Amino acid sequence: MLRLTVFSMLWFAALAVSAVAGYDVVRDYSGQTFFSGWDFYGGYDNLTLGDVWWLNQSDATSQGLAYIDSEGHAIIKVDNTTNVPLGQKRNSIRITSQDAYDVGSLWIIDVNHIPYGCSVWPAFWSFGPNWPEDGEIDIIEAINVMGNNQMAIHTTEGCTHGSQNQLGTTIGTDCSLPAGCVVAETSPNSYESGFAAAGGGVWATQFDVSGIYIWFWSRPNIPASITQANATSSIDISQWGTPHASFLSDTCNITQYFSPQNLVIDITLCGDWAGVGWNYNATCGNSGPTGLCYNDCVAGPGSPRYDEAYFDISYIRAYTTALPSPSATLIGSPTLISSPTLSVTASTANNRGSSGARKLDSGRQIRWSLFISVLSVAIGALSIL
Ligand SMILES: *[C@@H]1O[C@H](CO)[C@@H](O)[C@H](O)[C@H]1NC(C)=O
Ligand SMILES: *[C@@H]1O[C@H](CO)[C@@H](O)[C@H](O)[C@H]1NC(C)=O
Ligand SMILES: *[C@@H]1O[C@H](CO)[C@@H](O)[C@H](O)[C@H]1NC(C)=O
Ligand SMILES: *[C@@H]1O[C@H](CO)[C@@H](O)[C@H](O)[C@H]1NC(C)=O
Ligand SMILES: *[C@@H]1O[C@H](CO)[C@@H](O)[C@H](O)[C@H]1NC(C)=O
Ligand SMILES: *[C@@H]1O[C@H](CO)[C@@H](O)[C@H](O)[C@H]1NC(C)=O
Repeated sequence: MLRLTVFSMLWFAALAVSAVAGYDVVRDYSGQTFFSGWDFYGGYDNLTLGDVWWLNQSDATSQGLAYIDSEGHAIIKVDNTTNVPLGQKRNSIRITSQDAYDVGSLWIIDVNHIPYGCSVWPAFWSFGPNWPEDGEIDIIEAINVMGNNQMAIHTTEGCTHGSQNQLGTTIGTDCSLPAGCVVAETSPNSYESGFAAAGGGVWATQFDVSGIYIWFWSRPNIPASITQANATSSIDISQWGTPHASFLSDTCNITQYFSPQNLVIDITLCGDWAGVGWNYNATCGNSGPTGLCYNDCVAGPGSPRYDEAYFDISYIRAYTTALPSPSATLIGSPTLISSPTLSVTASTANNRGSSGARKLDSGRQIRWSLFISVLSVAIGALSIL
């Protein structure tokens, strides 16, 4: 009888944890103000060795490579109007968020079109100030005319990745190797023309002490918690189901390998993934007379080669939990690890982010969890009788 009592109290305590899977908006990038809060790179691609010049903000704006369209969407694109002479680079965009977001954050991006085509290498990702010590999370990344998106994390030595609790397929398991811990998306329409034809989709990334979790939904499958959310409302992630990629802290201590992350959106061309050897040949080797990425794609006319090389983004929202400090004993329990939506998240505020929006709903959630805790004690007492 006593054992049952303790059990039921623990069970209801676990319920109290699951009732607080809510997040509040700390920053919404959308509409006419989408581009405030980002730094434009303003230099050639000396990071992934692509054949692009990433414009500064004034050139990006005047050349029409970063703008808000008539529907209020952010367009970020490769130059498709210039006939680039052999030996020169093509203009493109790379932007980095001025805010960095700490463990305890959630990022949601709603995208209508992702750049694709031979030589094209787009990414939506995050990294800490020192690479790779502060970690990297790749949320959207693919090359050329690949059929699917790939998600990944990159860290220093000691962080590995299994294949539990995710829908995608693990490709790399040592996150310190150059390719990182890659998870291939297996749901349809995550990249290339199929993504756009389905109306785009949404990715959500939960950056949590218990792990890093990435979900993808093609437009028809986006959950109501997201379609009904607006730029200020809090969000409940408890019905999202199994993530498409799960990087669990039991084999990769997230707080050890990751610092607060800046978000990045960029498009490069060719470079050390899209442009080399087998990677390029796999889908694009026959796309021109030389079989070389730069010569057959980047040099020469921009259209039609780069007509699909653009991001069309409805919004990016950064959220944080507004919860009291987590109970250390609950983190790491197998039940919590196996289901990220049950995890207790750190409430560390994003640094440099406005935390004004953290107030929403937290009072209600705390009252709700208090209510359930009281209920669990009451039921525990009842079961003694
Ligand atoms: C890339 O170029 C920028 C200047 O545009 C420089 O600050 C940075 O150190 C360079 N990075 C590498 C890895 O060469
Ligand atoms: C932007 O880049 C162009 C080309 O490199 C340069 O001429 C211009 O001065 C830069 N503008 C700003 C505001 O830095
Ligand atoms: C956003 O949603 C919340 C409820 O979730 C509502 O109170 C608020 O009025 C909405 N804001 C706008 C601008 O629609
Ligand atoms: C994870 O890393 C943090 C920060 O480095 C450390 O405080 C904590 O003890 C580590 N947890 C485990 C289980 O090793
Ligand atoms: C890629 O294709 C080109 C020409 O079609 C060929 O020269 C090169 O050896 C190929 N590279 C690989 C790694 O298959
Ligand atoms: C460049 O691509 C856009 C679509 O991104 C297309 O509307 C436009 O016609 C293209 N420009 C040229 C010069 O073909």
